[in-house]
Amino acid sequence: MLQGQKALVTGANSGIGKATAIALGRAGADVVVNYVVGKDEAEKVVDQIKGFGVNAYAHEADVSDEAQVVDMVARIVKEFGTIDIMVANAGLQRDSSLVDMTMAQWQKVIDVNLTGQFLCAREAAKEFMRRGVVPEVSRSAGKIVCMSSVHQIVPWSGHVNYASSKGGVGMMMQTLAQELAPHHIRVNAVGPGAIRTPINTAAWDTPEAEAELLKLIPYRRVGDPEDIANAVVAMVSDLLDYVVGTTLYVDGGMTLFPGFATGG
Ligand code: BGC
Repeated sequence: MLQGQKALVTGANSGIGKATAIALGRAGADVVVNYVVGKDEAEKVVDQIKGFGVNAYAHEADVSDEAQVVDMVARIVKEFGTIDIMVANAGLQRDSSLVDMTMAQWQKVIDVNLTGQFLCAREAAKEFMRRGVVPEVSRSAGKIVCMSSVHQIVPWSGHVNYASSKGGVGMMMQTLAQELAPHHIRVNAVGPGAIRTPINTAAWDTPEAEAELLKLIPYRRVGDPEDIANAVVAMVSDLLDYVVGTTLYVDGGMTLFPGFATGG
């Protein structure tokens, strides 16, 4: 489905990023596996992707560092010739109530989750615009997928830094989609709900926690990283070539205000 395309996934050594990098490789893309800590895991992901007969390498970079993002995108252009797919996935949480939240907790989350996506989108867009559409490869000149969250639209007490970063990702994505669409670049977001990954282990790793969590999920199952990876593959494929500036929530219905199933 993505044969001949060159993809870069940030934060691809664990969780949603890892599953997405593997799914893109399985779909035929060559893949750069970005990580900031956890080289061994990144190399394992690379080996798994190479097992599909495509090319892959791991690249260490902090997405919130401008020079490192510039170098990372310059390297994929040098090694793979260009870039067709940027999955701006790297993200983290530093949870705290408002009154206890430090400036460092606020800033770290904004830097990685929002500024990091801005930098990755900017550098990818420059190469997409330079190269333009190559019809044998894809109908579009490039695809950017912003990894968002249900918290792009669902307020989240105790996580104001995270929810603000994802709300920002939503508006950034729409603005970039509007700005880049005339260049035949598609920018969209995928908004995961509760997915079994290291970021939220406490929310599902005991039967009690999982039972509480399931109350928020009408479809009554916690998501797997592959649920998100499959959505990203669909989003960047030409099957969805006319999808521009959309957030695809992949959340088992978490954004359907499940509390109103009985109340209201
Ligand atoms: C957060 C998880 C949370 C989920 C649903 C995600 O964006 O990273 O910690 O479980 O949203 O609330």
